[in-house]
Amino acid sequence: MLDNRGRKINYLRISVTDLCNLRCRYCMPEEGLCKKKHEDILRIEEIEEIVQEAVKLGVNKVRITGGEPLIRKGIMELIKKVSAIDKIKDIAMTTNGALLGKYAKELKEAGLNRVNISIDSLDKEKFYEITRGGNIREVLDGIEEAKRVGLMPIKLNTVLIGGFNDDEIEDFVNLAANEDIDVRFIELMPLGQASTWAKEHFIPNTIILDRFPELIPLCKDDKGSPAQYYKMPKGRGRVGLINPISRHFCSSCNRIRITADGRIKPCLHSNYELNIRSLRKQNMELLDILKLAVESKPKEHTINNYEFEPIVRNMYQIGG
Ligand code: GTP
Ligand code: 5AD
Ligand code: SF4
Repeated sequence: MLDNRGRKINYLRISVTDLCNLRCRYCMPEEGLCKKKHEDILRIEEIEEIVQEAVKLGVNKVRITGGEPLIRKGIMELIKKVSAIDKIKDIAMTTNGALLGKYAKELKEAGLNRVNISIDSLDKEKFYEITRGGNIREVLDGIEEAKRVGLMPIKLNTVLIGGFNDDEIEDFVNLAANEDIDVRFIELMPLGQASTWAKEHFIPNTIILDRFPELIPLCKDDKGSPAQYYKMPKGRGRVGLINPISRHFCSSCNRIRITADGRIKPCLHSNYELNIRSLRKQNMELLDILKLAVESKPKEHTINNYEFEPIVRNMYQIGG
């Protein structure tokens, strides 16, 4: 379906839980969260129904996110159901990778095509620090297992954090050059309770190009992708830059999001949401709710404008 700006919306991002087994500093409060009531979280059948309706509007790409999607009960059943829908061409997951060693094979068998894995440091101690207790070994083993079972292409998501991992840029670029893995640097976005922290640690992605002028820009194969890709000369994987702040990609945005508690977010950087269950209670058809969400997509975010209204929801509640 086309939105009011002529953008084709074909990508649905579904957060299946706002819980996580890690506590990344830019994302989660240290004490964890106040667990939502079980009944406030969308059931697997409801999510499946949403995807079925979204397909009628032209959605052919689904991404499962969290929190950490692999701790959601029923996740394999959901992947099986969604991947069995005829018109879905791509079903992927964004995960912190800690449980991939255990689940990659089952995910592949359930029909998942690929995974994007969040990893902000390659150093054991620093990884522990940024995730407040994560074990990098588990993530590295998870990446290997994902590769082994063919959850490909594998993309690593590295949020660039000033004073924390800007000294590891070279290690990440070398990883992409030497392995069949894409590494994407993401600009830190001011969302939820970590907004101030994010602003203090923000550095623009242009730093990567300044440090590696030899990176060769590649043509965009997926026009809706937030990443601009590059390759090192003779590099195996790609280096991607996701620049939501310094050079936003709103004009080619192709997505809407569903939160675990059943809100549709037409834009990541807006507080506007549609509550699926309450609108259905008011007798609105699911298809019409989805249409309304697509029609409500704003032209672009206004993070860089002085009147920008801070985003209340945290990233773990939206799924990126
Ligand atoms: P691919 O299908 O592999 O291109 O995945 P993706 O980049 O769409 O998904 P992923 O979950 O890996 O997101 C990577 C980063 O891009 C995360 O930090 C997201 O928050 C960010 N991102 C994804 N979509 C948007 C968007 O519409 N707006 C903004 N500002 N950021 C986004
Ligand atoms: N800014 C940028 N990226 C973020 N992510 C989570 N919070 C933020 C933020 N404030 C990333 C995660 C994950 C992806 C879904 O979003 O690291 O890779
Ligand atoms: Fe968990 Fe992802 Fe948030 Fe880290 S960024 S705490 S891995 S949801």
